[in-house]
Amino acid sequence: MELQDYISSQFVRPDSVRDDVMAQIREQGMPEISVPPEVGQFLTLLVRVSGAEQLLEVGTLGGYSAICLLRGTRHSRPSAHLTSLELKPEFASVAKANLAAAGYGDRVTIRVGPALDSLQALVEEGARFDFFLIDADKGNYIRYLEYAVQLANPGAVIVADNALRGGRVLRETDTAPSTVALRAFNHLAASHPRLDAMLLPLGDGLVVAQVLPGSEGGVRP
Ligand SMILES: C[S@@+](CC[C@H](N)C(=O)[O-])C[C@H]1O[C@@H](n2cnc3c(N)ncnc32)[C@H](O)[C@@H]1O
Repeated sequence: MELQDYISSQFVRPDSVRDDVMAQIREQGMPEISVPPEVGQFLTLLVRVSGAEQLLEVGTLGGYSAICLLRGTRHSRPSAHLTSLELKPEFASVAKANLAAAGYGDRVTIRVGPALDSLQALVEEGARFDFFLIDADKGNYIRYLEYAVQLANPGAVIVADNALRGGRVLRETDTAPSTVALRAFNHLAASHPRLDAMLLPLGDGLVVAQVLPGSEGGVRP
């Protein structure tokens, strides 16, 4: 049995909401690239242990990871809110319907358009967030990370999916643009002066980082 299969077989719980979202994604002919269930459950756990209230996601698709993020806020944080950024209006509509069906319709704002534009607008609006999920176009991961650090409350958590690219980041001969982008992203996350970060081999690899409280001047406290 493979490592990921073992983890799933032991830890992943049945989830009818996920089943419904996946059915919608298939029915609408959308790409089946939502985070896997073990990553979804881990996102819920991370939001809950961090106590995050204001959440930001880059890459909505059908709303599965959005539901997982909001699940982590369910009992303790009635004022919690997720802002999710999505390029495609048709994906945003499907996600909106899925989030409403899961009971989170009033807890989410989906901003449609290129995420870099939405992130710049959020900076100009003075928005601040406690938790970030980066899960969109790989070529912009580094820019998404820099925006997340800029938009972070002290101690905020930043998570990025697909950090291993199916193991391709390990193979130096793999020079596909997305592999090169993730290698550079991992290097930046690991060495960023304002972050404490680790790469976990869960799903396709998750980078989990914290914006160090007291690092606002740009250096480690
Ligand atoms: C891997 S999927 C997100 C999956 C979602 N996080 C989940 O697990 O349910 C990536 C999403 O990012 C969106 N995307 C790609 N490029 C984007 C961009 N420049 N700005 C905003 N969204 C983008 C895609 O349309 C797609 O819906």
